[in-house]
Amino acid sequence: MNIGFVGLGMMGFPIATRLLTAGYHLSVYNRTKEKAQPLLKRGVVWCDSPKAVAEKSEYVFSMISNSEVLEKCASGADGILHGLPAGGIHVDMSTVSPETTQKLAALYESNGKYFLHSPVLGSVPQAAEGTLLIFPGGPERLIARVEPMLKILGSRMWRFERAELASYTKLLCNTFIAGMMNTLAQSLVMGTKAGIAPSVLLEIIGNSSMNAPMYQTKGKTIVARQFTPRFIVEHMLKDVNLILDAGKKLNVPLEGTEAAQRVFSEAVSLGFGKEDYSAMIKAIERHADVVVK
Ligand SMILES: NC(=O)c1ccc[n+]([C@@H]2O[C@H](COP(=O)([O-])OP(=O)(O)OC[C@H]3O[C@@H](n4cnc5c(N)ncnc54)[C@H](OP(=O)(O)O)[C@@H]3O)[C@@H](O)[C@H]2O)c1
Repeated sequence: MNIGFVGLGMMGFPIATRLLTAGYHLSVYNRTKEKAQPLLKRGVVWCDSPKAVAEKSEYVFSMISNSEVLEKCASGADGILHGLPAGGIHVDMSTVSPETTQKLAALYESNGKYFLHSPVLGSVPQAAEGTLLIFPGGPERLIARVEPMLKILGSRMWRFERAELASYTKLLCNTFIAGMMNTLAQSLVMGTKAGIAPSVLLEIIGNSSMNAPMYQTKGKTIVARQFTPRFIVEHMLKDVNLILDAGKKLNVPLEGTEAAQRVFSEAVSLGFGKEDYSAMIKAIERHADVVVK
């Protein structure tokens, strides 16, 4: 079966690779063609636009940076919507706004085609291993059609009746990530300033009911000053802004997320936007005039 894939970034590339390795024939588009080269060497077909990808495929997956780029790749002049055959399905896995996914689902349906939002929890290693947690959102009969592909990409799925509910769920998960990262970074900086070794703090947290694997993995990479990105600060800031927008619309106060937003935003202003999201600690370190290592 031929599947289309749009967006071969840090997450899209390993996801597309899994589909290829599972035996699907892939047609792909990425803004930067070079990133597709390893796949093209394995027989994947290059297309010059998202529309051209969709013309070859009943199912098109996408994993791209944000809501604006998704709208352009989906319903822009060269978008997936205009190439998909009648009844075809666009499955987007990016983290984007509920308004965008709701709008696209309605637009596709009014054109006799379908849009599912299927965001994921997990990062580059989980994408490569096929152990993502996936939240497909849309009518059950459509999810059933793409389920065999989703099972190649993830270890568990939680289904939602509508695209925007899946989008909200992903934002709720990232509310945890933003808050936990901010708490970890603040504690490591304050501990260092007070004279407590980060390794001791991480060990204590690791032996307590407060532990989370993320505290240990990010704690160790921060101490080693490794900020090679798996998920960039800019994307975390994008998600935090989406969460705060959703909070305003639903009239839910989100003070903890607002505090994290200020730190991620400052980290971007300081030039750390393309580093791993844990590099937000550098903004706190600057104020405290100390480096955690
Ligand atoms: N990394 C993670 O751990 C993780 C986990 C879960 C969800 N996500 C979400 O997954 C999505 C992708 O993240 P990522 O980490 O894979 O980021 P990434 O490596 O920066 O990839 C972004 C993708 O979007 C494309 N893109 C960006 N701007 C574009 C534009 N103006 N026009 C066309 N294409 C454009 C990029 O193309 P180029 O290659 O040409 O730049 C690339 O294919 C984001 O929504 C992110 O929030 C990420």
